[in-house]
Amino acid sequence: MLQAVHWPHHHGSPVLEGWEFDDDVDPDEVVKVTAPVGQPAGVVRGTHRWIEWILGRDAAVRAARKMGVEQPIIEVTSDGAPFVPGSDVGLSIAHTRGLALAAAAPGRIGIDVERSTRDVSRLARGLHPGEVDIAMSISVIGCLVAKEAAAKATGLGLGGSLARWPVLDAELSGSAPTVSIAAPDGRVVTTQLFSWGDHTVGVSHIPEE
Ligand SMILES: CC(C)(COP(=O)(O)OP(=O)(O)OC[C@H]1O[C@@H](n2cnc3c(N)ncnc32)[C@H](O)[C@@H]1OP(=O)(O)O)[C@@H](O)C(=O)NCCC(=O)NCCS
Repeated sequence: MLQAVHWPHHHGSPVLEGWEFDDDVDPDEVVKVTAPVGQPAGVVRGTHRWIEWILGRDAAVRAARKMGVEQPIIEVTSDGAPFVPGSDVGLSIAHTRGLALAAAAPGRIGIDVERSTRDVSRLARGLHPGEVDIAMSISVIGCLVAKEAAAKATGLGLGGSLARWPVLDAELSGSAPTVSIAAPDGRVVTTQLFSWGDHTVGVSHIPEE
């Protein structure tokens, strides 16, 4: 289950400019859904970071509900990975300018989203030669999104280094490219890549451990 939350460009608050909602998501509803989730320590209400966080939580609550969790409480591990205590439904959150996305599924899940047009030339220089070849077919942004989604699915996060998550292979035969990533703990994790409007979305699912 993937859930997107946008905020309307026409919304009055300058802080919210650039955010838009899905047509079927009422801004008043977001306030109700997110009221019990509080706010992250050290983040000032109304700032860009706060909006990003709150909309990510909103998307996650909606996604978890659609997976059958009636009253999802979202907590985070010491590494920053969101989870629903007492549930086998895994959750993941991603945001980029103007968009928050969440994914929920049994087991572990990781999601990442980037604008497909984002300038990643600096990050591209960090790819190793094998990854450069793969990036020719799935794009540099596809490689980066695949790594971040895999890093989230494991719950480890990137740990500050894209290089610790090498892309091993990309399978292009299905409707969505499937990218294999080597995690630092030796596991191979796969990420499916999707084009969604002008965004590239990666979803990495580890059904059970
Ligand atoms: C998890 C990680 C990949 C987050 O990536 P990001 O680009 O900073 O931000 P995203 O919007 O994609 O994702 C943020 C969300 O990831 C989730 N997250 C954070 N740590 C996580 C972890 N260890 N495991 C799973 N999910 C995690 C959180 O829900 C967070 O949102 P929230 O703080 O609002 O709840 C992070 O580990 C990281 O290493 N960031 C560094 C950024 C970087 O180096 N990017 C390379 C350029 S593409």
